Parts: sequence; C-alpha cells; structure tokens
Amino acid sequence: MKITILQGSARKKGNTARASNWIEQELTSLGHEVDTIYLHSKNLKGCMGCAKCKEKPDTIGCVQKDDMPKILGKIVRSQLVVFASPLYFWGFTAQIKAVIDRTYSLYINYHQPGHASLVDGQKQALLVTGAGPYEDNAEGVFTAFRRMQKPHKAINVGELFIGSCTTPDKLDDSVQDQAIEFAGKIVA
Ligand SMILES: Cc1cc2nc3c(=O)[nH]c(=O)nc-3n(C[C@H](O)[C@H](O)[C@H](O)COP(=O)(O)O)c2cc1C
Repeated sequence: MKITILQGSARKKGNTARASNWIEQELTSLGHEVDTIYLHSKNLKGCMGCAKCKEKPDTIGCVQKDDMPKILGKIVRSQLVVFASPLYFWGFTAQIKAVIDRTYSLYINYHQPGHASLVDGQKQALLVTGAGPYEDNAEGVFTAFRRMQKPHKAINVGELFIGSCTTPDKLDDSVQDQAIEFAGKIVA
C-alpha cells in the first residue's frame, strides 16, 4: 500500500516524531511503501477560502504557489494517510492544520447532489501526542478528524492518542508496542 505520514511536529526528535517513526518502521517491515513528510520544513500557507479550487473539480486546483499542491498530490496518490500531530491548545499544530484546511480543494458539492472527492475511499488515521490525558483535553482534535472524513469520503481506520508526553524520554517500550499495534491495525 502507498502510505503518506504527515508529521506535524516541528520537533524532529520529539514525541510525535518518535511515535511516527515506530509506525513508519512497522509499516515498512510489513511491506508498505511509506513516505513521511516533515511539514515544518515546507512552505505552507493557510487556505484563503477563495473557492477557486471548486471550479476545477478533477484537479487539486489550488491557486496558491507554495509546497502544498505537491503534498496534496502525494495525499491523493496514497491509499492511506496518517495525520500525526502534537496537541497544541487542544487542537492540531499550525503545520498540520494548514494541510487539513487546504484539503478543501480535494472535494466538491459537500452536502449536495454530486458530492465527489479526489480521496474517495482513502484510508485515514490519526496519531496525537499530548502532555495531558485524553479526557477534557484531546477530544476536540479527534472530533474534527472524524468529521473531515465526511467531505473527504474517506475511511477512518484508526486513532491513537499518547498522553503524558511531557518530554521525549517519556515514550517507553509500552508506547512503542502501542505504536506498532496501531500500525498493524491501520493496514489490516
Ligand atoms: C504551544 C503548545 C501547546 C500545547 N498544548 C497542549 C494541550 O492543549 N494539551 C496537551 O495535552 N498538551 C499540550 N502541549 C504539550 C504537547 O502536546 C506534548 O508535549 C507533545 O507530545 C509535544 O509533541 P512533540 O514532542 O512531537 O513536539 C502543548 C505544547 C505546546 C508547545
């Protein structure tokens, strides 16, 4: 399977990167073709809401000239996309939120007849790390993620929240086991 991991933390050796690396290694060892994109190194602007993309339903069609069209192209060509983000102020990081907002260009006619998506049937999974617990802290990102599958016409194949991530060395062997199990589940 062709898999893209969108790594949304700026910290290359942080919690999200470590968990995401374990997932990538497991997916690779299972024979999948995995490409991890370190979003912080990219030139990514926010969605302008101009809706020009809706005029070209068969292509990505975003008018902005930055690194996003290439990333969106990789997303469209993937059978599975793993969104990986630290929890920032009960939400996604700016890096991954920019990608999510720009996926506005991937579908047309949401809530109308003729709803179509360039990622129709795609598998999508979410990994989030946070310092606090899930309860009363991380629910919002998971709700937003689940709602995103509706306009995308995508399939949510798994979600993993890793709490108590205050420093990277907090990720012990049990977390690695969780990440490996998660990797197996999202490609099952
Ligand atoms: C700006 C900022 C906001 C944060 N907001 C939250 C939060 O709302 N809830 C939480 O549990 N952790 C929060 N954290 C902690 C991080 O989510 C957590 O340490 C995470 O594992 C960091 O990931 P990284 O090592 O991949 O960068 C925040 C950290 C920063 C820097």
